[in-house]
Amino acid sequence: MSIKLEHILKRVQALPPLPTSALRVIALTKNSATTVKELEIVIAQDPALTAGILRQANSAFYGYARRISSLQEAIVMLGFHVIQGLAMASAVAPLLKTNLLGYEIEQEGLWKHSMLTAMTAKRLCHYRKLPYGDVAFTAGLLHDIGKLVISIYVEEVGSFLVKKVEQAKLPYAELEEKIIGYSHATVGGFLARTWFLPEDLVSAISYHHNPSQAPSFLELASVVHVANGLASLLGIGGGVDSLLNPIQAEALHRLSLKQADLEHLMSELGEILVDPSLFS
Ligand SMILES: [Fe+2]
Ligand SMILES: [Fe+2]
Repeated sequence: MSIKLEHILKRVQALPPLPTSALRVIALTKNSATTVKELEIVIAQDPALTAGILRQANSAFYGYARRISSLQEAIVMLGFHVIQGLAMASAVAPLLKTNLLGYEIEQEGLWKHSMLTAMTAKRLCHYRKLPYGDVAFTAGLLHDIGKLVISIYVEEVGSFLVKKVEQAKLPYAELEEKIIGYSHATVGGFLARTWFLPEDLVSAISYHHNPSQAPSFLELASVVHVANGLASLLGIGGGVDSLLNPIQAEALHRLSLKQADLEHLMSELGEILVDPSLFS
């Protein structure tokens, strides 16, 4: 049933653009001349964004002993890069919270899976002492956005795809590409370009299921690949494909990760999950 590229691109264009307040925050946090006050003024104009940032700042993930109660405090404590990731999370949350029948994802499942992948990617960077944990957070958050676009086609061929995965012993994303014409990863890359996201994010999203084929930012794509695999193993919010896209040995090798490291990261994830407000 190969779908024509123009159909896919039309669906990409039909998705709502990112909210302007989040885009302004992203632009401001990228500019080193921006002051805390300037950023605070822009964020404060968006109550949902303000609430989201304060909630996340106080979640178990950031692990501050003291309660962060003001926006100014949150900006100073978390820093511009973290605020940028949280602004992106707040911007895409409504999109990721939609129900995706094609992938048989439970209510808000894609949102939970995306947040978990984002947090795991950031933890992984910290664990491996890679300096781009906040970029990895955003890449993890957005890695499956292509599912928003192609879920409708997967709905038609989903059970056929699962059967094929069993027969052909190929990863689900690879069969998506063979049967629909494009995997959700490739389509996610198209969407990221439409949103004018930077090239590192475009690459990590496009190659999160085959990081070794990424023409650039291979390491970041590998981080997102492994984080996605670990988040899927938790069985929270994953769709029908979640256990049908195994972690590639090559990606583990690139990040010098052994089984014991994965177990360590999984136990760290378990600690974060005790916080019930994590996905709100
Ligand atoms: Fe994926
Ligand atoms: Fe995923």
